[in-house]
Amino acid sequence: MFAKVISIFVLFALSGFSALLSWNKGTGAEAHDLNGLERHFQYEIKQLSVPVDHFSFSNNSTFNLRYLYNDTFAEKSNPQPPIFFYTGNEGDIEWFAQNSGMVWEQAARFKAVVVFAEHRYYGKSMPFGSNTFNCTKPEHLAYFTVEQTLEDFAMLITFLRGDRQMPVVAFGGSYGGMLAAWFRMKYPHMVIGALAASAPIWQFTDLTPCDIFNKITTSVFQTAYNANCTTNIGRSWKLFEKLAGSDAGKKQIADAFHLCDPIKSSDDLTKFLDYLEEVYYNLAMANYPYNSSFLAPMPAYPVRQVCFYLKDLHENDADLLNAISSALAVYTNYTASVKCLDYKDVNKGSSADSFGWNIQVCNQMVMPFCANSSDTMFRTKPWNFKETVDNCIKNYGLTPRPYDIIMRYGGKNLNAASNIIFSNGLLDPWSGGGVLQAPNDLIQVIIIPEGAHHLDLRESNPADPPSVLDARAKEAIIIARWIEQFYLNIH
Ligand SMILES: *[C@@H]1O[C@H](CO)[C@@H](O)[C@H](O)[C@H]1NC(C)=O
Ligand SMILES: *[C@@H]1O[C@H](CO)[C@@H](O)[C@H](O)[C@H]1NC(C)=O
Ligand SMILES: *[C@@H]1O[C@H](CO)[C@@H](O)[C@H](O)[C@H]1NC(C)=O
Ligand SMILES: *[C@@H]1O[C@H](CO)[C@@H](O)[C@H](O)[C@H]1NC(C)=O
Ligand SMILES: *[C@@H]1O[C@H](CO)[C@@H](O)[C@H](O)[C@H]1NC(C)=O
Ligand SMILES: *[C@@H]1O[C@H](CO)[C@@H](O)[C@H](O)[C@H]1NC(C)=O
Ligand SMILES: *[C@@H]1O[C@H](CO)[C@@H](O)[C@H](O)[C@H]1NC(C)=O
Ligand SMILES: *[C@@H]1O[C@H](CO)[C@@H](O)[C@H](O)[C@H]1NC(C)=O
Repeated sequence: MFAKVISIFVLFALSGFSALLSWNKGTGAEAHDLNGLERHFQYEIKQLSVPVDHFSFSNNSTFNLRYLYNDTFAEKSNPQPPIFFYTGNEGDIEWFAQNSGMVWEQAARFKAVVVFAEHRYYGKSMPFGSNTFNCTKPEHLAYFTVEQTLEDFAMLITFLRGDRQMPVVAFGGSYGGMLAAWFRMKYPHMVIGALAASAPIWQFTDLTPCDIFNKITTSVFQTAYNANCTTNIGRSWKLFEKLAGSDAGKKQIADAFHLCDPIKSSDDLTKFLDYLEEVYYNLAMANYPYNSSFLAPMPAYPVRQVCFYLKDLHENDADLLNAISSALAVYTNYTASVKCLDYKDVNKGSSADSFGWNIQVCNQMVMPFCANSSDTMFRTKPWNFKETVDNCIKNYGLTPRPYDIIMRYGGKNLNAASNIIFSNGLLDPWSGGGVLQAPNDLIQVIIIPEGAHHLDLRESNPADPPSVLDARAKEAIIIARWIEQFYLNIH
């Protein structure tokens, strides 16, 4: 059995050599370069020793979970101040702390202790140290689950509270928002409520149509400037395929986009086209009303900028190629300092750890995606679960379970849940898998028509549209009510 697993990993090493290299390189502290991160908010960096396996009573093995801590806002006269607890997601926790300014602003207002807890297997919270992602030890991936992660959070809160009764509010965005919601569902005695911002808890099998993400992305591009934008992008896929059929065409692409490595094989072409898709998704997610550097440095309303370059309908191949290249530079070269385009590294410049995420996709986070070119600007791609399973087994020795999350957290049945705010921006492709209608009176749904991916969680900005100001104000009122109720109950 063990020998077989090793051979699977050797195969992976042969077929995905570059990925494996970054895997081994990315096992420890240096996993992601946060040098470029502007550290606007301050905190102490601490660690808590937690079990590798919370569900075992016969093994005491532990590791250090990292968290960020700031109790400056809490009043010394209040022995039981609120804790605003961010449930960390797929990346270095400092990155989320710096991009969730709303938590800091509200903590100052509510005189709360701020805690940002890192998700295990990300950043510096590695259960097996530098051996965590050692491909010859696939059993090290066994504890990379939502449930172990929620237990980490529960243990950290238990430790922080000691014997004090403190109202804890969970905050999270995106996958972190899913964790915040699930944490409140499973540990209502630990958190009085959760703000789940842009949390697509229904982006799972049979809960949401698999094409919704691509449809929303398309509609964002269609309405950003004019409809030629999506027509041009929709046509570009065939053009790239055509050009990649000849050496002259390959050179044309490499020149137009300033590629670091020219497209040499069909594998390269696939990587390039996948890269373009990823860029369009990231543009839609970070389509904020001011310039930002969350996923990459981008101008204000970057989708509008992109579509400005695509405002004319291009029938001519060379024109279309150049227009797409200019449009893409809004994302890839906003700083005008990028020497060449590295389409083989989707993650470049971002602190999101797609390698860790790819592993979660292979156990619980099976989120079906598909597209049809007839009603989106993307290539037609059916959802292929079998292919996902085959790749997961081949790459990590993991067999995905598509209904695991639904079984554990209820799917569409949220009748028993309470004190969760689900906020969603309608410009966000992830809103398609979000909770847009409250299942009961104790759950609040806040819609932000002009919002991209968890805009409400970000720091206030003069360019914020009224709908996000309104959302934050509503969120604060609800949180105030939870806290008030908590203190009434303990007195
Ligand atoms: C907590 O944040 C406040 C406000 O940004 C800052 O003044 C303070 O130094 C921080 N405290 C710690 C311990 O970093
Ligand atoms: C776990 O810890 C307990 C208490 O320290 C110890 O008695 C026990 O032997 C440990 N078990 C293992 C498997 O290490
Ligand atoms: C406990 O778990 C660790 C990590 O999985 C493993 O290396 C170790 O062999 C286990 N110990 C026992 C006594 O099972
Ligand atoms: C991975 O584990 C093997 C077997 O224990 C060890 O020989 C090797 O050095 C480890 N590799 C890394 C990159 O740590
Ligand atoms: C946003 O633009 C301003 C003014 O041009 C600039 O000073 C700032 O560095 C930019 N911020 C980001 C995150 O790109
Ligand atoms: C698309 O571009 C053409 C020029 O190429 C222009 O005439 C037309 O108005 C544009 N379409 C829209 C919807 O703006
Ligand atoms: C980025 O912009 C700079 C300055 O305009 C240019 O020299 C460089 O070629 C661009 N890089 C890419 C990848 O397009
Ligand atoms: C895409 O949509 C067209 C038109 O509605 C339909 O005929 C085709 O079967 C769809 N393709 C897939 C893969 O769903």
